[in-house]
Amino acid sequence: MAEFVANYDDDKVPDYTLPDPLIFEDGTEVENAAMWERRRAEILSLFESQVYGKMPGAAGMHFETRCVNEDALDGIRKEVRVYFSTEAEPWMDILIFLPKDADGPVPLFVGLNFGGNHTVHPDPEIALSEQWMRSKTEGVLDHRATEAARGKAASQWPVGRILARGYGLATIYCGDLDPDYDDGFQNGVHPLFDRQNAGDDWGSIGAWAWGLIRAMDYFESDEAIDHARVAVMGHSRLGKTALWAGAQDERFALVISNNSGCGGAALSRRRYGETVGRINTSFPHWFCDNFKRYNEREDDLPVDQHLLIALVAPRPVYVASAEEDIWADPKGEFLGAKHADAVYRLLGTDGLDAENMPRVHEPVMSRIGYHIRAGGHAVTDYDWDRYMDFVDKHWRGISTSS
Ligand code: GCU
Repeated sequence: MAEFVANYDDDKVPDYTLPDPLIFEDGTEVENAAMWERRRAEILSLFESQVYGKMPGAAGMHFETRCVNEDALDGIRKEVRVYFSTEAEPWMDILIFLPKDADGPVPLFVGLNFGGNHTVHPDPEIALSEQWMRSKTEGVLDHRATEAARGKAASQWPVGRILARGYGLATIYCGDLDPDYDDGFQNGVHPLFDRQNAGDDWGSIGAWAWGLIRAMDYFESDEAIDHARVAVMGHSRLGKTALWAGAQDERFALVISNNSGCGGAALSRRRYGETVGRINTSFPHWFCDNFKRYNEREDDLPVDQHLLIALVAPRPVYVASAEEDIWADPKGEFLGAKHADAVYRLLGTDGLDAENMPRVHEPVMSRIGYHIRAGGHAVTDYDWDRYMDFVDKHWRGISTSS
């Protein structure tokens, strides 16, 4: 196969026509909110069958609170193990931080992490994950975390800042749900369910999103958490995951995509930076097999990623890019958000209040939010501060779940 060469020249982006969010597959126009509900179901099923695969429901769950520290380093820290069946395995551990002085259930951010819960905060009492880890993560030896890994991702998870603004944070290691390598789905949560050996069997992104949805099941049982105000957030492959979880499960009140790129917020038809063919070759386990049909054939896709964002409507959604993160196609991410606008407006809210891509550090805080910041592929304090501004704005005045 010829070596892949990414296009980074906007002038070489081919002409393309996007599927219209407000026109059904049979050509009927969506004229009102009731019709949108049906179109929403149609789009959702296209993403299931052609992109991410179809995910099962819960298999039976129970929760075990393994540790609560009311006086932890930054606030209250809790570790909860969620078992997905009556068996001892598989499970996922949710690490939860809550502000100490809350006078009711706390609105929360939830996101998967790349390297284990112990990487999010240096607190030595956080359980060190014993799961398989990618070797390139700092402090990992022979695919297992060592003490040296503690706090290594803390810059991406500003726990103190989040709690100081009155929000909680919950995070889960994505490898609890599915270790990120191509093994034919022998581990993680996939073996809990029979595989159909069909083109729409779920992949890793599906399993990760499924875990976020199961976390939401847990939040509904935890009185300290305001489950009507849970924002699902993710970076990069886990940003694609956050969008897919938030698109499906309307219990997530708000959705945040950080540098999610191809298969996330970026329009596939632009073929700028990473492409469908490239992502399916490098990461054959992320999407469903049917998605591979569109390698080098993006125009044949019945969807594009703006429709994924539209599935979040009318809930607030925020898409963030980084200037140097050209592999993820910042302009394609902006356009993904922009082309979801019509659905929000049909549903009676504003959409993305920017005709053109805003300049660096000029965030747009309408119902579809967007920013591009300086720098590369990462989650920074700048990103988190904007996410908190965004939830402050959109959750003001919304009553809690208590
Ligand atoms: C690779 C991949 C991207 C992904 C990123 C990440 O760069 O090509 O699609 O978003 O990894 O998850 O960090």
